[in-house]
Amino acid sequence: ARGKGHGGGDLRFTPVPPNKEDALTIPDGYRSSVVVRWGDPVLPDAPEFDFDNQSADAQNKQFGYNCDYVTLLPMGKDRALLWVNHEYTDESLMFRGYTGGAEATEEQIRIGLAAHGGSVVEIERSGGKGEWKLVTRGRRRYNRRVTAQTKMRFSGPAAGHALLRTAADPKGVGPVGMLNNCSGGTTPWGTVLTAEENFDQYFVNGDKVPAEQKPYITRYTIQTGVPSSSRRFDRVEERFDLAKHPNEANRFGWIVEIDPFDPDSTPIKRTALGRFKHEAANTTLARDGRLVVYMGDDSRYEYIYKFVSKERYKPGFDRHNRTLLDEGTLYVAKFTGDSPASEIDGSGKLPADGEFDGSGEWIPLVSGDKSYVDGMSAAEVLVYTRSAADKVGATKMDRPEDMERNPVTGGVYVALTNNTNRTAAEADEANPRSANKHGHVLEIAERRGDAGEKRFAWSIPLVCGDPNDAATYFAGYDKSKVSPISCPDNVTFDKDGNLWISTDGNALGTNDGLFVMPVKGEERGHLRQFLTVPVGAETCGPLVTADQRSVFVAVQHPGETDGASPEEPSSHWPDGDQPRPSVAVVWHGQGKKIGA
Ligand code: FEO
Ligand code: CA
Ligand code: CA
Ligand code: CA
Repeated sequence: ARGKGHGGGDLRFTPVPPNKEDALTIPDGYRSSVVVRWGDPVLPDAPEFDFDNQSADAQNKQFGYNCDYVTLLPMGKDRALLWVNHEYTDESLMFRGYTGGAEATEEQIRIGLAAHGGSVVEIERSGGKGEWKLVTRGRRRYNRRVTAQTKMRFSGPAAGHALLRTAADPKGVGPVGMLNNCSGGTTPWGTVLTAEENFDQYFVNGDKVPAEQKPYITRYTIQTGVPSSSRRFDRVEERFDLAKHPNEANRFGWIVEIDPFDPDSTPIKRTALGRFKHEAANTTLARDGRLVVYMGDDSRYEYIYKFVSKERYKPGFDRHNRTLLDEGTLYVAKFTGDSPASEIDGSGKLPADGEFDGSGEWIPLVSGDKSYVDGMSAAEVLVYTRSAADKVGATKMDRPEDMERNPVTGGVYVALTNNTNRTAAEADEANPRSANKHGHVLEIAERRGDAGEKRFAWSIPLVCGDPNDAATYFAGYDKSKVSPISCPDNVTFDKDGNLWISTDGNALGTNDGLFVMPVKGEERGHLRQFLTVPVGAETCGPLVTADQRSVFVAVQHPGETDGASPEEPSSHWPDGDQPRPSVAVVWHGQGKKIGA
């Protein structure tokens, strides 16, 4: 069959056209349902959601806001744990009459703290079908909420360093809470890695830190003064005021490891993986068995990283494996184009060799206690990773978001969301379009297909936008047959190696969605839209289950449009009432494989 076994596998669904519906729109023959919504009980003693009478105590036991990364950990054929990140809160949609953090009630601020973090919920299905449901009865022993107030610990080379010490934690080993957890990954030993992204927005008085710290506050764009947009977490927890606790900001921006099968376990911030605006942390194994973690730093002109463990993964040796993320080498990527610079003019026009492509290298930054960066100690490299990467000539990318290795082809794919600030003079072959509104997807082929290697080849199979726009590229596929796509954010793969891409911020004026594109064979580049999300929402999570009978998406911030409020919501999804960020599942009505 056409495309079969070449990553093209059986994608026969009719694409969903771009639209502005306030609905989850799916292809003919498919069905969808909502698995879990903001406010749904997570802990068995949680109250039912009551929009007009929400409390911090209730929110601490209920599903949080703005669901993002989704992963499923099987517990047998028809039962599983679902882990979901809660990236951030939209107070102006959560509370009637909300006018900002300065006037918010302290209870509202505490609800905000409790609505961050992540959730573990048990889900089940009947008879091996594609629909999964929240388990709402019985013990649910694994169900858990992790919030901005959960006790955590640091591990790895920077744990206990002076830069991580505060009045409340003079040893610098016990951070409290996690914030802005965007995407993530899972480890081969069944734990979750969750990535703290835009932590800068939670602090005030970034300008009132000691002089030597100020350059780093700026480098991480931490707020100065007390902006009116601030949630004012500092009003209920003084640690968010950097004038009083200047190191508190250093305790966020990490990859956090959480064991969903041990609800009493302490989440661990793994300092060996560096500190930046982490988007994701997807793992794979090097050919010799070392663990590799791919990570993006999602801001304009930021970098792509990978961590390679010192020791090898040993299947079944759990105690050993759980040390792998504490010792290893953190690298940052440098991309070199193979076409003359004169052919890269920012227009997005392909160079004469027909491809945006070239070679690259992983530049080491730090390995355990050894720093490779002039003038910075190992701990400084880990805490101020952005500044370290600046010094070694890494390539500034167009917002590197999710990054994941294709389990079939071994290619590593990076979503580069957009960068409208890039000028024509700043265009390079890896970021070839100036004023890049729609983003692109970059493919890395590690040398010899080995994730542990330090050199790679790369190319850009997808330059996003309206296919009628000459400055787009769909791996050379017939552009009259592809769906328009804008602002790729999260990526995942199905078992056939097809690349699934979700979007955030569609600059073509229609709703965000989920797309699928084969990356091998005749169908390479044949991008099709599989679903769209409601008004104001972005599509997160995407997860195609191992049996390929279900696809999960996190519908984040439905109704997040300018001026929307509980009095005038712009979305009523999913209940016809106030919008509620929710995880949904889509399956084929006749139980066919997703994409059929
Ligand atoms: Fe939270 Fe980079 O998206
Ligand atoms: Ca080229
Ligand atoms: Ca994201
Ligand atoms: Ca995003």
